[in-house]
Amino acid sequence: MLIDPAEIQKVANMFFNAAHEDIAHSVNQLYEALKRKEKAPIDELLEEMIFEIVDHFEMEEEMMKDSEFFGYPMHKAEHDQMRKELYELSEEWKSSRDIEKLRTFLEEKLVPWLKLHVAQWDSITATHIGD
Ligand SMILES: [Fe+2]
Ligand SMILES: [Fe+2]
Repeated sequence: MLIDPAEIQKVANMFFNAAHEDIAHSVNQLYEALKRKEKAPIDELLEEMIFEIVDHFEMEEEMMKDSEFFGYPMHKAEHDQMRKELYELSEEWKSSRDIEKLRTFLEEKLVPWLKLHVAQWDSITATHIGD
């Protein structure tokens, strides 16, 4: 396990919390496949993880718009940056099939980003939106 779901801060909206837990689960599944160096499941698990994250970003953005959250542009900009990095990661994986690069991205980029992003933007956004 790379990320214990309990390490992701709980926020004031249960949909956000449930989605964050699902994302942590997807990250862990991909990470286990990377450790086993199984390339075929990695293709599928990487795609699944990216879909899960991007889908969640969209949900948050819709809820921010509906509730006219003042921080929408800043919060969305952070999502946009990560969307771009995930897209590049997926392209890179398809061409290089480099397991170490994927693993490094999860360990050094995605997981620290997720924890920080949730503690900052998702937390303040959920407090604004409520349950
Ligand atoms: Fe989130
Ligand atoms: Fe977010």
